[in-house]
Amino acid sequence: MKKRIAVLASGRGSNFQAVIDAIAAGKVPARCVALITDNPKAYAIERAEKAHIPVRMVDFAAFPTREAYERALLVAMQEARADLYVLAGYMRILGSEVVRAFPGRMMNIHPALLPSFTGLHAQRQAVLHGVKVSGCTVHFVDESLDGGPIILQTCVPVQDDDDEESLADRILEREHECFPEAIRLFCEDRLEIVGRKVRVRK
Ligand code: GRF
Repeated sequence: MKKRIAVLASGRGSNFQAVIDAIAAGKVPARCVALITDNPKAYAIERAEKAHIPVRMVDFAAFPTREAYERALLVAMQEARADLYVLAGYMRILGSEVVRAFPGRMMNIHPALLPSFTGLHAQRQAVLHGVKVSGCTVHFVDESLDGGPIILQTCVPVQDDDDEESLADRILEREHECFPEAIRLFCEDRLEIVGRKVRVRK
């Protein structure tokens, strides 16, 4: 039975596209039932429309308070009735009520090898720090900042002449493989959270 997934994205949505393509290619046993976005200008909206995926707008600017926005987001997510919620470049930190509503059912991709370089501009942080290896991480979302149980990680070597942009481009290529793979494992019921760890069943 195919899982229902909903994607939350705020921007260009290249990871969203990778998920759409992986589903279309039969690599992920899922149906993408919604794009939820907080940004009316997100290019991800065009990608959703092309793929005939319903778009749900929860525009932060349209709400009088953060609480009102959070409530509307929670309702939009519940109405999607997804098995899995995928954060693909969703640029807002989710409140605890939203996070607690979907335990073990929300994933994020982060452009660094967590727990290094949490938060914004992870690729810039990696270049400034002078690390020799960075990469990307797919993890379950909990109430910490980029600190939930890690599902998959992929390494990307940092080259001497890398700047933030060149490193980000190479990490992004790996993200587009890593994210659909993690979603596939979830959709095949092969991920089990044991304490802080994620076990992948054969
Ligand atoms: C990616 O680098 C992802 O790791 C981070 O936000 C970026 C989203 O890019 N969370 P895109 O919108 O999927 O192209």
